[in-house]
Amino acid sequence: MKPLHLALPSCFLATCTLSDFTIPDASLAYAGAGAGAGAGAAGVGGALQNILKNTDGSDKYSYPTDLTRGIIPKPFHSHNDYWRPVPFYSGLSYGAVSTEADVWLINGTLFVGHQLSALTRQRTLESLYISPILDTLQRQNPTTIFAPSPTKHGVFDADSEQTLYLFIDVKTDGPSTWAAVLSALTPLLDRGYLSGYDGRTFTSGPVTVVGTGNAPLSAVQAAVPRYAFYDAPLALLDSSFANLTSDDSPIASVNFADVFGDDDVVVRGGGALGEDALVTLRRQVKVAHDKGIKTRYWNQPAWPVGARNRIWKQLWDEGVDLLNVDDLSGAAGFWDGT
Ligand SMILES: *[C@@H]1O[C@H](CO)[C@@H](O)[C@H](O)[C@H]1NC(C)=O
Ligand SMILES: *[C@@H]1O[C@H](CO)[C@@H](O)[C@H](O)[C@H]1NC(C)=O
Repeated sequence: MKPLHLALPSCFLATCTLSDFTIPDASLAYAGAGAGAGAGAAGVGGALQNILKNTDGSDKYSYPTDLTRGIIPKPFHSHNDYWRPVPFYSGLSYGAVSTEADVWLINGTLFVGHQLSALTRQRTLESLYISPILDTLQRQNPTTIFAPSPTKHGVFDADSEQTLYLFIDVKTDGPSTWAAVLSALTPLLDRGYLSGYDGRTFTSGPVTVVGTGNAPLSAVQAAVPRYAFYDAPLALLDSSFANLTSDDSPIASVNFADVFGDDDVVVRGGGALGEDALVTLRRQVKVAHDKGIKTRYWNQPAWPVGARNRIWKQLWDEGVDLLNVDDLSGAAGFWDGT
């Protein structure tokens, strides 16, 4: 048995139980991605059941890049990802195309957590993100007799062109922490897995790193070639940050509550953005998109769920590129139409 089965060929239909999953979240992800595969197998005869269960243990039902088999990438950002049972992998199992690590530089190590009291020696940028992402990419880019030259496929088997956005939220001093982040990215950079800008052209790679929090814009802009980008302030792209381009900032973000009011204002009485808010939303999205910059609103209302979903739908319908989500299964279900 492989160490990690997210897509679970060994219990492909009908027969999955929770114990088949190494990752607690993956059952839901699989239900979302596989769209009710279990239902079809009920009532199927014994011989076919055995084939479906792959009881001969044959290799022909697995393949090198099947770690993320069956997972449909979805345009959402796994907010506060490091809080999840298994950071990075939980979001991956639901198809989140974007993930996030808050980093603290302490005595030369980048620790990951929401605040100082949440840090441990074991939870570092390297251990929770760089190494798992590298491992996933190596699984997706095997060298075989069929693919002898190196490939640069992304983490999703179903869409190998899809980049993974890795937001790195710098919590400690900007310049020194950013330098440590760039150095931590070396294993991904060395294998050609990072999106980059060479001074003329942006090339999308398997992973697009976006600095946020205290990430220093000047250091991002000074780096050419550049393999880590800057989370632009979405509300200021037509004023004080109008000089930013998509080569500095492939993505721009803003606090939803700062733009549209706090949860109470938005979710009571209808639970949706009104006409004035929609005008603002459309303007911000247009300013960004005219520059080729993608958009993300964070800190939207999370509850009531009906209001949350209506706002997600409005953001999505108006062209927002990444929905910022805490509830991965809710978001995956939202996209799956359930
Ligand atoms: C950082 O280094 C100082 C000085 O050596 C030490 O007292 C402190 O415990 C260290 N902190 C961590 C988190 O390693
Ligand atoms: C763009 O504007 C920002 C904010 O005013 C400034 O910090 C940055 O240095 C400017 N960049 C360039 C390349 O002019």
